[in-house]
Amino acid sequence: MSAPSLRIGLAGLGVVGATLAKRLLSGAVSGAVLTAVSARDANRDRGIDLSGLEFVADATTLAQSDNVDVVVELIGGSNGAALNLVRAAVAAGKPVITANKAMLAEHADELSLATTPISYEAAIAGGIPIVKTLREGLVGNNILALGGILNGTCNYILTRMEEAGLSFDDALAEAQAAGFAEADPTLDISGADAAQKLILLGALAFDVRPDINKWSVLGIEHITARDIALAQEFSYVIRLVAIASCRDNQIYMQVAPMLVRQGSALAQIKRETNAVFIEAEPVGRLILQGAGAGGGATASAVLADIADMVAGRGRSLFAHPTKDMRESPADGVMSAPDRMWYLRLMLTNKAGSIAQITQILAENGVSVKEVVQRSQHGDDNRLPIGFITDKASAQAIMQVGAALQARDDICSDIVHLPLYDDD
Ligand SMILES: NC(=O)c1ccc[n+]([C@@H]2O[C@H](COP(=O)([O-])OP(=O)(O)OC[C@H]3O[C@@H](n4cnc5c(N)ncnc54)[C@H](OP(=O)(O)O)[C@@H]3O)[C@@H](O)[C@H]2O)c1
Repeated sequence: MSAPSLRIGLAGLGVVGATLAKRLLSGAVSGAVLTAVSARDANRDRGIDLSGLEFVADATTLAQSDNVDVVVELIGGSNGAALNLVRAAVAAGKPVITANKAMLAEHADELSLATTPISYEAAIAGGIPIVKTLREGLVGNNILALGGILNGTCNYILTRMEEAGLSFDDALAEAQAAGFAEADPTLDISGADAAQKLILLGALAFDVRPDINKWSVLGIEHITARDIALAQEFSYVIRLVAIASCRDNQIYMQVAPMLVRQGSALAQIKRETNAVFIEAEPVGRLILQGAGAGGGATASAVLADIADMVAGRGRSLFAHPTKDMRESPADGVMSAPDRMWYLRLMLTNKAGSIAQITQILAENGVSVKEVVQRSQHGDDNRLPIGFITDKASAQAIMQVGAALQARDDICSDIVHLPLYDDD
């Protein structure tokens, strides 16, 4: 006699939940059956026949229902109904599947203590099976570094600025119209969404306790068409890159817009696509790329977690409760390895200024590799100047920035972006 099917209670019938429900109702995962659902609006037409399913108005009742073995949380939000449901499921001893990186990142300490499995393949890079790759495919490896392009909204904006010469605001408006950016895009463009995913990757790969406040997180809000164009003159493009690494037992994590060499693997990741690279011993370097969001891609990852639950392969959030994981270093924000840098400033056209600027860089131990200077149409007195430096520490670049900012011939903020040259 075959084992009874695992009964799935699904909270959230939005972009991801509705796609998931359709797949489950068509028998996509053998041994799993959708029995109960919850959403705010019971009557909305979602293009799914919900008639054979129990509908509950209060999502937390899915956790207590005799009709549900596994709870799938696809409501979203780091607190509120999503967290209440997950807490109730854990209290009732039921496994949880979620796509909610915001909740996992914020409540990792609590959820890592759960005695039931919590699966979250869909929470990091949507359809890319990175959790399974780390936990299973690369199980015997020593992970050295991982990360990549983890936010499709930022990547869409940056690549549209690059392809079409759009301003940041126009590219954002286009992304919103195309459904690749939220009406309130703050979480994405500030780098916070990529950082939430990165700290989950850091916990999985390096056993580091997730703590978003310990690491440097910069978004793309201040990237201008001028910087995209200057970067191109240096044969680079700009991407929001997330990196976590562990070398010589030193952990480092950073999310920042970085210059990425044209033609390299990450430069070829365009529009809403995500890419995750992994460097590990003995396997070497791997890159997985694909849709980081969208109903189909994200539901695909949830389906894989459901299949694992059917097979009894559900796992706890991390290998250990966070209290037993390694802490991020206190100085994590400044622990970035030395990198080459792009500096950009606007100079009032004064003879000898460039030589003096180069001198300031040299006094701080930073040498210049390349300079690009462009005259401005219509405002000949303000010249945009871009520098590519040799490798330097973040501290040295901050000192250079402060010294330059004090000069009266510099009439802009100093833009400084690291170069990602690891491809
Ligand atoms: N969309 C993506 O591409 C994507 C990618 C990766 C991860 N995720 C994650 O997946 C989760 C879901 O995202 P989504 O885009 O599918 O969200 P969504 O389209 O906004 O759908 C949210 C769903 O939750 C329901 N809901 C809201 N409050 C509720 C409550 N108190 N009780 C029960 N149901 C409630 C809504 O009901 P109504 O429909 O009745 O309003 C809606 O069906 C989020 O954690 C998100 O971060 C999404």
